[in-house]
Amino acid sequence: MNRFDYEFPVRIHFGQGCFEDSLRKELQRYGKTVMLAYGGGSLKRTGLYDHIVKILKEAGKTIVDFGGIMPNPTYAKVLEGARLARESQVDFILAVGGGSVSDCCKIVSAQARLDSDIWDYEYAEHKIPTDFIPLGVIVTASGTGSEQNNGAVITNEEKKMKSPLWGCFADFAILDPDLTKTVPMKQVISGAFDTLSHCMETYFGNPHRSNLSDEINEAVQRSVIQNMKAIIANPADDHARSELMWASAMGENGLLKLGKQTDFQCHMLEHQLGAYTDCNHGQGLAVLHPTLYRHIYKSAEEKFDRWAQEVWLIDHAKDGIDFLADFIYDCGLPTKLSEIGITLDDTTRRAIAESTIITPGCCKQLTADELELILRECE
Ligand code: NZQ
Ligand code: ZN
Repeated sequence: MNRFDYEFPVRIHFGQGCFEDSLRKELQRYGKTVMLAYGGGSLKRTGLYDHIVKILKEAGKTIVDFGGIMPNPTYAKVLEGARLARESQVDFILAVGGGSVSDCCKIVSAQARLDSDIWDYEYAEHKIPTDFIPLGVIVTASGTGSEQNNGAVITNEEKKMKSPLWGCFADFAILDPDLTKTVPMKQVISGAFDTLSHCMETYFGNPHRSNLSDEINEAVQRSVIQNMKAIIANPADDHARSELMWASAMGENGLLKLGKQTDFQCHMLEHQLGAYTDCNHGQGLAVLHPTLYRHIYKSAEEKFDRWAQEVWLIDHAKDGIDFLADFIYDCGLPTKLSEIGITLDDTTRRAIAESTIITPGCCKQLTADELELILRECE
């Protein structure tokens, strides 16, 4: 294991039915003016918006409404939120939604307290913000584990980049599986596959020698696969829904990453695919993963062999990747970009390949040419 320092600052409230009670208790800790941030419409459709407004009013809060955060949140939306938070002198941000709402708010929280433009502050000046408006997250769609960390993935439409930015850690996160029951099954599965991807992207980073983080990781991967099958067979399976929600948190709360250098090459490629096509994150990963792994597994064959044995109960790396591909197909996830309506012309394919960040933790350092080939094979 590599050397590490670990600190986890997020208070977690987890469990079926925990939402209202946990929120009421948490609100006592924060100031009067609360920014209520949410996505494109599901919150109002499900009635959760009215429920939360009632709780906020009963707690004596003044509400600043910030809705319309889109999937794959844009930098323009971050700036809009930060402006509103400043103008309204917001004391606390309550983000209610999936990864997109949580990501957007982690950066709004930082940008609202920063005089410079956060994109330049992080990418040009190489600085990380330290002053934040406190944030709480109510998770309504699990999978990304975004509420567990201080990273956010933001699409800068001008620069054609979907890139990580560093914002605040949430003070608290409420994970009540009941709140995810209205998520369309397609998104449940796409989110759960994202969790599996986070585990794999952590597992295949260095060191490859057997270690406790990776052994826990194998257990989380087996659990995700089993519970994805269970929830597809029976969407009313509350146990499977809860397990998937906690696995989502486990994927990104840092525990699996202790002592590891992570890989995340597939994520970097998917993010740039998203920058050019706005594709759904979990679906994009589902298409890319098997093809990308067929390109890299020989560079870490022993580790891929172990993964095949421990996660897929089959002997060899190549068979493990085939099992992963079959699982993706059986879950109804896309296996080709054309299935999600994406066709890439030569210029766009090349631009995606050239703008993809090459991660130091991937067992094979891919070139733009190889990334272009991977994209072509996925079409
Ligand atoms: O926008 P609304 O109308 O609310 O609908 C959303 C959205 O269309 C809907 N939804 C959410 N909760 C619902 C619901 N529909 C019905 N009932 C509910 N209870 O679900 C749709 C997808 O939501 P979104 O938040 O976009 O999905 P997800 O949670 O998969 O987040 C994806 C974003 O997170 C980033 C991705 O790149 C992408 O931008 N990621 C963030 C990570 C992080 N910060 O750690 C890690 C990930 O690797 C990922 O990159
Ligand atoms: Zn992801």
